[in-house]
Amino acid sequence: MSSSQEVHKNVILLPQTNQLIGLYSIIRDQETKRGDFVFYSDRIIRLLVEEGLNQLPVETATINCHGGQVYQGAKFLGKICGVSIVRAGESMEMGLRDCCRSVRIGKILIQRDEETALPKLFYEKLPEDISDRYVFLLDPMLATGGSAMMAVEVLLSRGVQMNRIFFLNLLAAPEGIKAFQEKYPEVKIITGGIDEKLDEDKYIVPGLGDFGDRYYCI
Ligand code: URA
Repeated sequence: MSSSQEVHKNVILLPQTNQLIGLYSIIRDQETKRGDFVFYSDRIIRLLVEEGLNQLPVETATINCHGGQVYQGAKFLGKICGVSIVRAGESMEMGLRDCCRSVRIGKILIQRDEETALPKLFYEKLPEDISDRYVFLLDPMLATGGSAMMAVEVLLSRGVQMNRIFFLNLLAAPEGIKAFQEKYPEVKIITGGIDEKLDEDKYIVPGLGDFGDRYYCI
């Protein structure tokens, strides 16, 4: 059983334990150096992946144990894959690989179009049988939701069922959650924190700054 909270329909918030708040206190701190930022972000990512796995359907399974004993257990139904939104989402791939051996991981690159300032799809590489899979969509920050919504559009066009998409992120803004849910009500959002708002530059407040820069650079 999971102690995560469904704060709105299909929005699942990790339990706000002292441990989790401690991890966020480290990664939100602007003085935190890259090595610690990566280490503690990875710990949160692992918790998000575990929660994603908790949400998957299972069927009962009868297990034959030592000495003829029988255990009534559970077996996952169906296959999963990860899809990361390049670049920041790639930081979440290892957390998924740590939990799921040989998991297939696809990639989607979406960038702001210089002319229109709107998100534009530049590249996609996805497992061919993705329509048969549960998909963990990986992007650490749900700000406006523009990129993630475009990524969901790509997944739907490849035949993935909306209710089989789980969007994992470390921090979400209410504006992003609202936009996302209005368009894709059946996608499950799994987040570690819901912040106050977006600022005029579309950064999450209080947030943690630019996740990709802090994870990969400096
Ligand atoms: N992306 C980030 O890295 N940080 C934000 O606050 C919003 C989007």
